[in-house]
Amino acid sequence: MIVNTELEQKGNLFPSQIIKFKKDVDTLYFYTENNVVLQLTVLRDSVLRFRYSTTGTFDNDFSYAITKYASTGYNKLEISENDECFTITTSKLRCEVSKKDARVSIYDVKTDELINEDEIGFHWEESYEYGGNIVKMSKVVNERESYFGLGDKPEHLNLKGKRFQNWVTDSYAYGKETDPIYKAIPFFTGLHHGKAYGIFFDNTFRSYFDFGQERRNVTSFWAQGGEMNYYFIYGPQMQDVVESYTDLTGKPHQLPPLWALGFHQCKWSYYPEAEVKAVTSKFRELQIPCDAIYLDIDYMDGFRCFTWNKEHFPDPKRMVQELYDDGFKTVAIIDPGIKIDNEYDVFKEALDKDYFCKRADGPYMKGKVWPGECYFPDFTKPEVRDWWSGLFKELVEEIGVRGVWNDMNEPAVMEVPNKTFPDDVRHDYDGNPCSHRKAHNVYGMQMARATYHGMKKFNYPKRPFVITRAAYSGTQRYSSTWTGDNVATWEHLWIANVQAQRMAMSGFSFAGSDIGGFAEQPQGELFTRWIQLGIFHPFCRVHSSGDHGDQEPWAFDEDVTDVVRKFIEIRYQLLPYLYTAFWNLVEHGTPILKSLVMFDQEDNQTHYRTDEFVYGNQILVCPIQEPNAKGRRMYIPRGTWYNFWTDEVVDGGKEKWVDAEIDSMPIFIKEGAVIPKFPIQQYVGEKNIEELVLDVYFKTGKETSQLFDDAHDGYDYTKGRYSFRTFKLTGKTNELILQQHKEGKYEASYKTFKLNIHGLPFEINEIQLDNETISIEQLKVNGTVAMVVDKNFSEIHLIGK
Ligand code: NOJ
Repeated sequence: MIVNTELEQKGNLFPSQIIKFKKDVDTLYFYTENNVVLQLTVLRDSVLRFRYSTTGTFDNDFSYAITKYASTGYNKLEISENDECFTITTSKLRCEVSKKDARVSIYDVKTDELINEDEIGFHWEESYEYGGNIVKMSKVVNERESYFGLGDKPEHLNLKGKRFQNWVTDSYAYGKETDPIYKAIPFFTGLHHGKAYGIFFDNTFRSYFDFGQERRNVTSFWAQGGEMNYYFIYGPQMQDVVESYTDLTGKPHQLPPLWALGFHQCKWSYYPEAEVKAVTSKFRELQIPCDAIYLDIDYMDGFRCFTWNKEHFPDPKRMVQELYDDGFKTVAIIDPGIKIDNEYDVFKEALDKDYFCKRADGPYMKGKVWPGECYFPDFTKPEVRDWWSGLFKELVEEIGVRGVWNDMNEPAVMEVPNKTFPDDVRHDYDGNPCSHRKAHNVYGMQMARATYHGMKKFNYPKRPFVITRAAYSGTQRYSSTWTGDNVATWEHLWIANVQAQRMAMSGFSFAGSDIGGFAEQPQGELFTRWIQLGIFHPFCRVHSSGDHGDQEPWAFDEDVTDVVRKFIEIRYQLLPYLYTAFWNLVEHGTPILKSLVMFDQEDNQTHYRTDEFVYGNQILVCPIQEPNAKGRRMYIPRGTWYNFWTDEVVDGGKEKWVDAEIDSMPIFIKEGAVIPKFPIQQYVGEKNIEELVLDVYFKTGKETSQLFDDAHDGYDYTKGRYSFRTFKLTGKTNELILQQHKEGKYEASYKTFKLNIHGLPFEINEIQLDNETISIEQLKVNGTVAMVVDKNFSEIHLIGK
């Protein structure tokens, strides 16, 4: 059902005149003549929450998305009124609520610019069928406004002129523009006049967003039930908007273990044990780094979760240990559907304890998935989540599985028209009983949450690693994710690129695609180009379905293997850089991938770019997305960049042709950057790292870089045992100064940094290291621009003749 939002629509109701106003600390209530209440909460100077009731009272205020750790508090809150409106002023925003019809306008308090304004504003239709309302909001589209976000939509990054739906859906072999697919993240960022704001519509019912499609000048969002309940987040920088949204809905609860940032190999399915071992051994034999191997559904006994097929895996504990000894962490799949089988413990226990979802009139929710007919735990019930967490004891604590992969948790049901539960299925919703219409979009999230808690408990003191297919806003707290069942086509390489960027700007950075494509089989060239992109995604895994041939790095020809190895090695070298980006995600909610629009929103040229993105803060990447390419045109954002391969210096703010034969791809480093690198390892922890390379890219001017490090697993970093280094580079015509500031108590194994200085425009005459002049020879100069220094140096001056 597509709901039309137009004013003319029969049955639309609107707030009337405000007749009463009340203030309760940070919350204001506006009462209209026709019983509408607008509840406006000032969460922060730049974050306002708007809730509307049409009955005079509000439902219990409960959200799966909003975290209890969200920041609150503001510097200023002033309220005034005149004949026309109430005015709420914080140190960042001025919000006007019209007395005539409760419409809202929001301004930047400093510049007086209009940021966001209701068009017809809040309106609703009563739902005869289900009770309650279809709740709607219409806003004005500003001049040249662009829209970004909404999770995994396989569409152009800029959403303007389009309409979308949020309803998590199993979408095998989806295509460009298929909507909806696996995730429901009802959050977008609007950008106009160089100012960005965000809107998070925290409503889990099926919802819609229309960015000027139905009416060119109107952006609307609406849901088929629940409340009009949205958060307005002001930037004005897009990155600040995403960080504030992530603050509200949660950062990942801890850093991932470093191995999880390595390369992962997966297939549906590797079995029996000999096959798993053949794959892992081949990685080591060919010296292609890899940290994780996946077990898809065939490891189970008849697809019963938490069981093993003893014929194929006679001794899982031994196998998992042997794989671990060879550097491979085992990740096992767990689905929500529990086979109806009275001989099966998990089923029996859940049945006895009444943990399965039921239909409105009483029977269990029965649906077909891999094991045949199944019942499904109600993950929206705390007791059920606790039970589910406990089921991981054997798998994780005893057998030693290091990651859990939650699949089919939309929940997917086979052979039914809507691919999921019928609407009438009942859920606990943490003590707010409701139908599947409300719980559907969070079902997978709550499964991932329960899995996360189990993993966390039984993997302690190591960190948990979870990957989920379905997600609602907030799922990033518990899990990583992938983009589902894509296809081995060039178009899907484009989609993977857009999705990873879009997920990052939707607060969910730890994401990646099935590299090479899940359905069908890629040619070697497509596989290679996809690996090149995939090594720059926070989650980096090759996965494919069993029916289309092999997809390991050696399944093509030797040239492919060599290029794939070379790029996976680059990922491993850049691990300290990526880990630092994860630290910024976990600490500040900073997205790991930055689309060009986020990197430089003041440059209008970036608003419609899709291919280029910045990985971390300082590496610009652009995948090759066509066959037979020798390079491509790409937009280099403003500033000066070094070509990663040649050190050629280019000035941005324009399009440029960049050479990229099959063994290369466009990669640029921001001038002034200090990029930390590990030696190549076959898996994280293979080597005791004795020296860290710092690639220093000269710049005339200043630039700051960071390096986070810790034990790469465990929780000691939360007690201060980490090191966070800031490198301040200052370049002058005749001098390069590098200053280091260090925080934290962690002492890494390496004692020295090897500095590789790129683009130094002068010959070194003198070096001062921590106020001592030293001769060049003393520093073990290797060539002219490489040198080794103590890792705790404070300041280095390279002075020219
Ligand atoms: C669907 C998932 O998307 C896919 O990754 C997995 O291999 C299959 N289910 C089988 O478990």
